[in-house]
Amino acid sequence: MIQFMSDYCEGAHPNIIRRLEVTNFEQFDGYGEDRICREAQELILAACGRKPGEDLEVHFVVGGTQANKLVIKSALRPYEGVICCTTGHLNGHEAGAIEDTGHKLLTYVSPDGKVKPEMIDDCAKRSLLAWDRDHLVLPGLVYVSNSTELGTVYTRAELLALREACDKYGLLLFLDGARLGCAMASEVCDYDFRFLADVCDAYYIGGTKNGALIGEAIVLRNDIFKPGFKNLTKQTIGKLAKGWLLGIQFSELFQNDLYMENARHANAMSKKMRDGMAAMGVRFLVDGPTNMQYPILPNDVLDKLGKDYGFSLNGVEGETESCIRVVCSWATPEASVDAFLKSLEALL
Ligand SMILES: Cc1ncc(COP(=O)(O)O)c(C=O)c1O
Repeated sequence: MIQFMSDYCEGAHPNIIRRLEVTNFEQFDGYGEDRICREAQELILAACGRKPGEDLEVHFVVGGTQANKLVIKSALRPYEGVICCTTGHLNGHEAGAIEDTGHKLLTYVSPDGKVKPEMIDDCAKRSLLAWDRDHLVLPGLVYVSNSTELGTVYTRAELLALREACDKYGLLLFLDGARLGCAMASEVCDYDFRFLADVCDAYYIGGTKNGALIGEAIVLRNDIFKPGFKNLTKQTIGKLAKGWLLGIQFSELFQNDLYMENARHANAMSKKMRDGMAAMGVRFLVDGPTNMQYPILPNDVLDKLGKDYGFSLNGVEGETESCIRVVCSWATPEASVDAFLKSLEALL
């Protein structure tokens, strides 16, 4: 079975494994208060154009759901909710982690998986500006993911427009970067980490899906998130006792361009996949400039293809076809893509 199910089907980049081995018998302070975490934080701050002690804080946690829950819980008042797309990861795939904090998700349908300023305007009209606003859940934060759950990527102009809409209503902008590497390595991306730090109130840089064993790096700019953030991390069971393991991974990812190199590989494999399928006349749900493709294929073909290749079902399209998600990773060998395309061609 060759896996295209997700981008966390493999372990970690060899540079990370090597550093874990080299440091294995070194002793460190616990809970992320060690020199390697500081080194990794400084590397991330430098990528954001900042020095320690300026406006940004960097915190490491184990996973994406934890990052989303922590950031949202740390800032919102009890009656505030989160504007997001129905496809947003926290709406569909986090087992109610946000609802568990008491915060309602204010969802909007978006065919390309992106939040639009019009959605923020609409939500504000129905709540913040409504006559009965004191009886309603009010929006407090806008959640976007980049790349989105459909593999689409926000442009600089789109993010600036969201910032403007958030400022109009006093809302926070939070970007889930579980797949940020692939978004930033795509041809759509016209910004860097520094821009994201400036435009978002908070965002996180995903490691788990881009060459780390585990780990996400949360970047907080707005002071509203910061007080007690470490306490909240501990309380929500997000603090790793051996915190340096996260530091080691981000330190390696943010040296020698490894973070972007991993993402470029994933995108290149995915492009090969897309071009190969397109040449066979396959249709796609959306344009896929990153590491995820959503081809629409006949059900009988999928039944046979599924015997040798792992992918996930994204939705049924009519009577005889389905849309699947095919994901390449930092570690996908080109030979696996070739094998998939050859098998598909034989079945079509
Ligand atoms: C966009 C996005 N955010 C968050 C997550 C959650 O990550 P985790 O499974 O590490 O909690 C995922 C995982 O697939 C994701 O795709």
